[in-house]
Amino acid sequence: MIIEGRAYVRGSLQDCCIGVENGRIAEIKRTLKGDEKLRFGGIILPAGIDLHVHFREPGLTRKEDFLSGTTAAACGGITCAFDMPNTLPPATTPERMEEKVAAVERKAFVDFGLYAGLTEESDIDGLAETATAFKMYLAASEGDLAVGDFSKLLGLKEELSAAGKFISIHCEDPGHIRDGEAKRLEDHLASRPDSAEVGGIEMAERLKGLRIHVAHISSERGLTSLAGTGFTSEVTPHHLFLNVNCDLGAFAKVNPPLRHKHDQNALWRAFADGRIDVVASDHAPHTVDEKEAGFDSAPAGMPGVETTIPLLLERVRRGSLPLERFVSTVCERPAEMLSLKKGRIEVGYDADMIAVDLKRPRRIRADDLHSKCGWTPFEGMSGVFPQTTIFRGEQIVRDGTVIGKPSGRYVGAKH
Ligand code: NCD
Ligand code: ZN
Repeated sequence: MIIEGRAYVRGSLQDCCIGVENGRIAEIKRTLKGDEKLRFGGIILPAGIDLHVHFREPGLTRKEDFLSGTTAAACGGITCAFDMPNTLPPATTPERMEEKVAAVERKAFVDFGLYAGLTEESDIDGLAETATAFKMYLAASEGDLAVGDFSKLLGLKEELSAAGKFISIHCEDPGHIRDGEAKRLEDHLASRPDSAEVGGIEMAERLKGLRIHVAHISSERGLTSLAGTGFTSEVTPHHLFLNVNCDLGAFAKVNPPLRHKHDQNALWRAFADGRIDVVASDHAPHTVDEKEAGFDSAPAGMPGVETTIPLLLERVRRGSLPLERFVSTVCERPAEMLSLKKGRIEVGYDADMIAVDLKRPRRIRADDLHSKCGWTPFEGMSGVFPQTTIFRGEQIVRDGTVIGKPSGRYVGAKH
């Protein structure tokens, strides 16, 4: 099998032939001969890796499940997604990790990693053997998974160090979160101010030496605190493309909250100059009914796994985001951070790619997307969608829909 076209190889676009064997890239040459050739017009890029999704299995499958979530991922050009543990029940024990793998494996159109939720009571060794990575909620968000007693958790530092896992931390210090009725996005923002993010990063600094990753950095002050910590970090598309002044009401309620324009600008600057490692969607679907239940009772979170790549490629198309930054933050860095042979068009790597035509943007419409939730905060914005997604050398998306059977695999615990 040979894929032919203008591909992003070793930092630039080159006309080449990519030979695929057993799902891996076997050779890259100017020309290659073979029976089965796929030729693409636009450009060929590595497929993306999303380090932060909530596919809601088990227990919350009215919002999403692995079939719909990975369908959305595949159509959005993502071939590996890392699923969060705030499910029902939460993914917090080795047994539940194993049950989860068994339950979702045959429904996954793309590869997946699984986070185990950490609390001060966690069986670290057992989780290290069953989960891909760890997630820690310093404050309560959706789901009942906040660390109760942080000082007790600090007592696990040696075990955590021995486990050597990637630890994604939701950095909001509960001491800075204010209760009270929220009626609008501004109220939600006021209840979870940027000082909570700063405080959360300071708490995380007490875990220095571990592989700490700051999930969804959202504020200018948070970025200042992040500098010099040596932590890796991610930004979400919603914090890049939206702010508290948008008119989406509870649909844009999310943790950490959408913030001010100056925060949004600071995030773009940090993203552009390399202070932020990756873009991850924090795809957190909730149903329309739940979001329309009144601002205060509406759950926080919004979908995004299918629109990350289209939104960013639209910036590339307009010349305001260098292609190298896109590939680094969406493909290369997340793969490197989790030791995956993905995210690059290079010999020995998984043959996971997307073909895109930068001349053909289209409007983002919830009706065209695949999350079960049926809405998107990016409705009407312009995006460049993949024309096709190639997963281990096979086309799994054609004309905006998935084809074939789910063949995604659990990436496992050795990461
Ligand atoms: C997440 C969700 O809905 O699962 N919501 C969110 O606002 N980000 C929970 C979370 O990870 O904070
Ligand atoms: Zn999340």
